[in-house]
Amino acid sequence: MILDQLIGFFSSDMSIDLGTANTLVLVKGRGIIINEPSVVAVQRDKFGRQKILAVGHEAKEMVGKTPGDIEAIRPMRDGVIADFDMTEKMIRYFIEKAHKRKSFLRPRIIICVPYGLTQVERKAVRESAMSAGAREVFLIEEPMAAAIGAGLPVREPQGSLVVDIGGGTTEIGVVSLGGLVISKSIRTAGDKIDMSIVDYVKRKYNLLIGERTGEQIKIEVGSAVALDSELSMMVKGRDQVSGLLSRIELTSEDVREAMREPLKEIADALKDVLEVMPPDLAGDIVENGVVLTGGGALIRGIDKYLADIVKLPVFVADEPLLAVAKGTGKALEEIQLLQQLANE
Ligand SMILES: Nc1ncnc2c1ncn2[C@@H]1O[C@H](COP(=O)(O)OP(=O)(O)O)[C@@H](O)[C@H]1O
Ligand SMILES: [Mg+2]
Repeated sequence: MILDQLIGFFSSDMSIDLGTANTLVLVKGRGIIINEPSVVAVQRDKFGRQKILAVGHEAKEMVGKTPGDIEAIRPMRDGVIADFDMTEKMIRYFIEKAHKRKSFLRPRIIICVPYGLTQVERKAVRESAMSAGAREVFLIEEPMAAAIGAGLPVREPQGSLVVDIGGGTTEIGVVSLGGLVISKSIRTAGDKIDMSIVDYVKRKYNLLIGERTGEQIKIEVGSAVALDSELSMMVKGRDQVSGLLSRIELTSEDVREAMREPLKEIADALKDVLEVMPPDLAGDIVENGVVLTGGGALIRGIDKYLADIVKLPVFVADEPLLAVAKGTGKALEEIQLLQQLANE
């Protein structure tokens, strides 16, 4: 009985991948138990007070479909905290959901945050987790967690380069000897690609579509390089000229053209990092190549596209959407590594 309680106490430790698009929670010994969009749906009453209607999956379903007084918010959208209050409520919701009835346990929590967060924002994340019942909170940066999760030898005296393409940000990091040697974060990632598709469809076909449709198009027929047999899909929206509902056929060639600019921005950021790489580490990267994580790594042919530009081998990590969560979870298992990596 007492032993069980003890085990329960320690196994309640958890790690959170607080992403701009998705939040994943892993509980020690149980694996990833939550994987939901980082979205909060709120309703404003006539006094301007906000009431939370839904968080996660349920809230994302409401994006673009909400009546006037309901708003679906992504509080971390650009890799910065746009809304502190909503971020705190979202963190609390996920922690409480992971815990269910075991609220008396005070877990240690390790949270992975976007690289670009300021000290003030990091403090807010930490305090939100503390107020949701954490005993101790450690923060870890996304490129580091991604590198660990992708199985790179982060503690070796050897450079590993990881590019994590998320929703709001692309984070590039070179890791060696357990530290981030170089890192760069740009606000071009999945969301911007979606918006570029929306703009393109509007410009070329006079068809108005929403951001979620843009994302569906990217996932279904988006490709960074030419395909042996190109894909196509029917897209529904509103004709800008007639105002009527209408549909068009969109091909993967169209989508490639639409994605060209944001993909180039990601490639340019990678080139920038390669340019400032210390020569000794550059040798390791030439040898080991570049590893892609995050949902954007699932864009068809993005590995080949980047490899052609930077002239290095590029690999997509196993289950790229889970890499950061797995890396954060691994850090949780190794308290020593955790203390070494956690930044105040
Ligand atoms: N199969 C896919 N093909 C292309 N993009 C995808 C795919 N699956 C997810 N994505 C994109 O990945 C992004 C989310 O990735 P994620 O790593 O969860 O982001 P974050 O860490 O910022 O929360 C979204 O822009 C989503 O559209
Ligand atoms: Mg992420």
